[in-house]
Amino acid sequence: MADVEHTIGLLLGTEDDWPRAYEALLRRIGTITGPDGKTHRVNTERVTIEPFNLRDQPRHELVIDRLAYWYYHPREWLKKIALMDDVYLLNSPFTFQSMEKHAAYCAMMRLGLKVPETVLVPYKNPLDNSRYAYTAARYNQPFDLDRTAEQVGYPLYMKPYDGGAWVGVSKIRNPDELHAAYDASGERLMHLQASVEGYDVFARSLSIGPETMVMKFRPDQPMHSRYEVDHSFLSAEVGDEVVTISRLVNAFFRWEFNSCESLVRGTDVHPIDYANACPDVAITSLHYYFPWAMAALARWTIYCVVTGRRPRLDTDTSAYFEISDDSSLSYAEKLGEYRRLADAHFEVDRYRDFCASYLGHVDEIVHDWVTSEEFRSLLRETVRATYPVHEHERFLAHFGGLIDAWQRDHVVPPA
Ligand SMILES: Nc1ncnc2c1ncn2[C@@H]1O[C@H](COP(=O)(O)OP(=O)(O)O)[C@@H](O)[C@H]1O
Ligand SMILES: [Mg+2]
Repeated sequence: MADVEHTIGLLLGTEDDWPRAYEALLRRIGTITGPDGKTHRVNTERVTIEPFNLRDQPRHELVIDRLAYWYYHPREWLKKIALMDDVYLLNSPFTFQSMEKHAAYCAMMRLGLKVPETVLVPYKNPLDNSRYAYTAARYNQPFDLDRTAEQVGYPLYMKPYDGGAWVGVSKIRNPDELHAAYDASGERLMHLQASVEGYDVFARSLSIGPETMVMKFRPDQPMHSRYEVDHSFLSAEVGDEVVTISRLVNAFFRWEFNSCESLVRGTDVHPIDYANACPDVAITSLHYYFPWAMAALARWTIYCVVTGRRPRLDTDTSAYFEISDDSSLSYAEKLGEYRRLADAHFEVDRYRDFCASYLGHVDEIVHDWVTSEEFRSLLRETVRATYPVHEHERFLAHFGGLIDAWQRDHVVPPA
């Protein structure tokens, strides 16, 4: 028995790969001694869906949510445990339900980031609401879609204002494509966004609390090879800028677990997709980077429960806007100031000290785990569950090779 037992809830949908990995890693980490001198153990529990009394006391100190973006009963449970019980959430529905992609664009534009020109156009089809016809007849301005698109400039992207998973996203090169896509948008609310043409590299970053991995992304490839293993595809300055923007947006909206996309052209970083409440962390997408993601998720959640970090739902937008609105500051100076605020929000220094002092052995545990039969069987079973039979062998070799590469690159020096 540890002095203190913590329970982390996993609110899951169809995924089983990373939850098994995370559970295995926490089991292997076992008991740690915290800054309070006590021993702590962090246990996981998969949350089940059942009636709940609004005055019930949850068992969990922290919940990792992968479900609330589409399943509303557990979403309302999350709101209850956030508001009434101060449970720490990755992510909180309060911060994501109202703050989707569109809000992130607005915030990033005001913060001075290089978001491409973006216009929100009204619904194509009437809404299913008895008030719509009267309201639209009275207040909807007729507008010239062609002119709006010309002002944004071709080529452009038409995409849902709250999008995800490339659903409803299309590249538009001319007025015919524009009208076809708009007609097809139906009752979805769409952005028209100038395309960043001829970019040098697509940087996709996954952030978990204060940790960020910036990865080279190839959107034209199938899922299993979109992330390319490349450790020097960005200059140090641009890499740092991508990290700063990711941390900034996450701190600004109080997001903790998010993936962000930027198109880098020359030395300019153009953010295009910065709000993913349920970022992809499948082993078959992340492959080489999967051990990092699981280690980061373990470290950050352990840090939160062991230090008793308080959830902070109230945003502090004015502190950021004071910087953005200060015309005496250059873009680089603003980024520096934002970074200071974002680092403070995520307690970056304290987190680093905590990891060094109390989780120093985790790298070795991760290495042992990745080299274990337990990990290989997780990979095997995931491949079998994900791909058709005739592709199993090919994908086992593909992912096995990437994990071998990770092992070669992460040899833990003997103690
Ligand atoms: N402004 C843009 N310039 C260039 N490519 C874009 C732009 N917007 C979107 N794309 C392309 O379309 C893909 C999907 O768009 P994105 O905004 O990421 O939507 P989703 O939230 O569905 O992932 C991106 O990964 C990128 O390849
Ligand atoms: Mg995207």
